[in-house]
Amino acid sequence: MEAIQPIIWKGTSLQLLDQRLLPDEERYVECRTLEDIQDCIKKMVVRGAPAIGVTAAYGLLLAARQFCEGYAPDEKEDSASFMPKFLNALESAGISLKATRPTAVNLSWGVERVLNKIRSLAECTSSTILKELEDEARLIFEEDIAVNKKIGAWGATLIGDNYTILTHCNAGALATAGYGTALGVIRSAFYQGKKITVYADETRPFLQGSRLTVWELQKEGIPCFLIVDAAAGYYINRGEVNCIIVGADRIAANGDVANKIGTYSLAVLAKENDVPFYVAAPFSTVDMSVSSGKEIIVEEREPEEITTFRGLPLSPQGVKAKNPAFDITPAKLISALITEYGILHSPNEEKMKQLATKRGELFECNGTG
Ligand code: MRU
Repeated sequence: MEAIQPIIWKGTSLQLLDQRLLPDEERYVECRTLEDIQDCIKKMVVRGAPAIGVTAAYGLLLAARQFCEGYAPDEKEDSASFMPKFLNALESAGISLKATRPTAVNLSWGVERVLNKIRSLAECTSSTILKELEDEARLIFEEDIAVNKKIGAWGATLIGDNYTILTHCNAGALATAGYGTALGVIRSAFYQGKKITVYADETRPFLQGSRLTVWELQKEGIPCFLIVDAAAGYYINRGEVNCIIVGADRIAANGDVANKIGTYSLAVLAKENDVPFYVAAPFSTVDMSVSSGKEIIVEEREPEEITTFRGLPLSPQGVKAKNPAFDITPAKLISALITEYGILHSPNEEKMKQLATKRGELFECNGTG
């Protein structure tokens, strides 16, 4: 099967698979400037925490090229005057990128990683800097796929044969540079030959489940059923679901998780019915600077996402609607957090601290945390 490619770097532009058009149309949007990238993240041409982190890294590369084009050649080579102005411009670009979607910390993480690269290159010429930035963005992209495969391998150890797995939103190849986090676990279990079935929540209002997740699963030949969000409790309570796996947009220092709206309800249902509730995410989604989920900013999106569908009204004209894109699941409802470093059972502040300081070491010793 040909791999799903949500983000393609073409050397001078970034091609983003337009996720608003899927599954009807597979069309790429070409981004040549920082502004193109900002627009695509805001409008959710590209979406999913890791995918927007990678996209933002390329956004800064494009901003760097735009800055250098507007600079006289002799000025460029004088690093004493060039570098402070360059860094200043890129820091401003970083601030505007971070503001496009406030909840997913991978966006800030991708921006900071590129800015740190620039800060480490004080004495270089502009052409060297641009080359280094391109390499860094490529590395971020490649690392994301490698990390997802590790998450998949760890997570698959939690999946038994004949399992029915419920997932919410899209935490697949489309939400990352490729392969996926929650769907990466499902992919890995399937590739290992386990017989699995996936129940995919449709995920109102943007319909990441019905438009994107089942599209990915169908392409892979992974058996799946699409269900409306409200049917999750029905199936969980009937004992038809062996585990629930979701992705994450930001994980606080105490293990609280911000993820797509509806995730918290699923975690409560899981607890009530004694079903394991797993969160799969790269370590770049962990934000140790926020002590709990209460500090995480939840993005509010346009009410029109709820009151209309493809331009047609779904509700009476003038109705007020609230549209939070994410919710917070407290750590106490999470059975395990799956990262590239292993499986952290029943995450809490203490275990998160250990994960942040020891990372690989922690799990290479224990197998599971
Ligand atoms: O609003 P979205 O579609 O960007 O939200 C995406 C999610 O909530 C995903 O579950 C999360 O980013 C993890 S993606 C690997």
